[in-house]
Amino acid sequence: MPALDTQTKVAVIGAGAMGAGIAQVAAQAGHHVFLHDQREGAAEAGRDGIAKVLQRRVDKGKMDQQDLDALLNRIQPVADLSEVAESGLVIEAIVENLDIKRGLLADLEALCREDAILATNTSSISVTSLGAGMKHPGRLVGMHFFNPAPLMALVEVVLGLATDKAVAETVYDTAANWGKKPVYATSTPGFIVNRVARPFYAESLRLVQEQAADPATLDALMREAGNFRMGAFELTDLIGHDVNYAVTNSVFNAYYQDTRFLPSLVQQELVSAGHLGRKSGQGFYSYQEGAERPEPQTEAPRQSNESVVIVEGSLGPASALVDRLRDAGLKIIERAGNGQLRFGQAVLALTDGRLATERAAEEGCANLVLFDLAFDYAQASRLAIAAADQASGQAIDDACALLQKAGLAVSRIADRPGLVIMRTVAMLANEGADAHLHGVATVADIDLAMKAGLNYPEGPLSWSDRLGAGRTFTVLTNIQNSYGEDRYRPSLLLRKNCFANKGFYA
Ligand SMILES: NC(=O)c1ccc[n+]([C@@H]2O[C@H](COP(=O)([O-])OP(=O)(O)OC[C@H]3O[C@@H](n4cnc5c(N)ncnc54)[C@H](O)[C@@H]3O)[C@@H](O)[C@H]2O)c1
Repeated sequence: MPALDTQTKVAVIGAGAMGAGIAQVAAQAGHHVFLHDQREGAAEAGRDGIAKVLQRRVDKGKMDQQDLDALLNRIQPVADLSEVAESGLVIEAIVENLDIKRGLLADLEALCREDAILATNTSSISVTSLGAGMKHPGRLVGMHFFNPAPLMALVEVVLGLATDKAVAETVYDTAANWGKKPVYATSTPGFIVNRVARPFYAESLRLVQEQAADPATLDALMREAGNFRMGAFELTDLIGHDVNYAVTNSVFNAYYQDTRFLPSLVQQELVSAGHLGRKSGQGFYSYQEGAERPEPQTEAPRQSNESVVIVEGSLGPASALVDRLRDAGLKIIERAGNGQLRFGQAVLALTDGRLATERAAEEGCANLVLFDLAFDYAQASRLAIAAADQASGQAIDDACALLQKAGLAVSRIADRPGLVIMRTVAMLANEGADAHLHGVATVADIDLAMKAGLNYPEGPLSWSDRLGAGRTFTVLTNIQNSYGEDRYRPSLLLRKNCFANKGFYA
């Protein structure tokens, strides 16, 4: 079956935040759209909301008034569900409740054409169980848009056990024609994005719980070293802690309480206090009028007359740091070794998931200062360091001075395994690896979903490959040893790739 042509009428049931957005997307693509909501006036209000947003585009000269009028004419609010009967595609975006959605699907089956595709925008209900009560479950497919639907490119096309492959292909091709970036996923809890993204929040929350650093510092590192649009605290303040905590709990329970998805006590406290984020005026940060965002912890400038850096072996993914130091006028002396920098008293190395304190003892190198992963060491403006307990004050001063000479703001965090960006990226890749291993999606679709759905700077699997075969596996193995927790167990796929000396894309 090819993509649906624009002659095909589309119905959207539920005219809330998502339904109205989806109706706009389908109408913009040229379809006639029936918009229905059981709440009186909600469908009209949904259309009015679209009109208001798009009128601003017209006022700015970014859209023709004629095009807007035509688009609004294509969105037809309907009071009675039976009026959607001639639709070729019906997308439900009603309340997230299994029984109510099942009831709606039964009504739709009774009144729609036999060849009509029924799609659900559910975020957390199994497409398989939604289809279980249907006469023809083959025609039900997940079409999971992201909020706000007109702006977010990703659509997860979710196949339940009974979903007809041709139906899924039609929805995939149709979403692509609508200008979206579709990916396929099997019906598993959280599909791709809501599952693979859990560590993005969880690792930052855990670092705060362990007093590694404050939220403002961790957020700054995620942005300035990790190239993420937002850090976990500012993002969860925006999403709402009630919503984010509920998704985490739902995924945690759906995976039989696998500790990989363990919810955070820190976040639970916020929810209990009603500190839900922006919408309540208080989350990790205050949103009261006049409130200022706290500054990230940044080491004071250090002076050093030292001008020579000894580079021992390859720094692997951090090699661009050496170029930056050279460009800053430092004299670089290269010699054999296992990937570290010597400057004054300091010995600097990229984290491998061990505590700095433990690694210093194991390697007989007291003045060890670990630095974190950066998305791109040539561009990063901030980097985290963690010093071994044994390190001298002078060694820490020298480490700061060196990184500052390269133009980096330095945030010193407490000595925790894998620092900030490395442990987050390793855990994201770990979850992506398991999602692929368990047949949820292809490697390319997992990476695409994380980029298009959450604006990650790179897919976690491609990022993991870029770190070099085996590095993510080693980091996770070391973090797991440090904590002695199952939460950090590496995926079998990372283990296999490590011993095969290959990546996800190789
Ligand atoms: N909000 C998000 O970020 C988001 C993202 C992706 C998917 N989703 C999913 O989309 C769906 C809708 O979410 P939302 O945020 O738009 O909710 P919402 O509460 O804003 O809107 C739901 C609408 O459905 C209507 N409704 C409820 N039962 C109905 C029925 N039986 N028939 C017709 N209309 C009915 C309600 O009156 C309401 O207007 C849910 O399944 C949700 O999980 C939400």
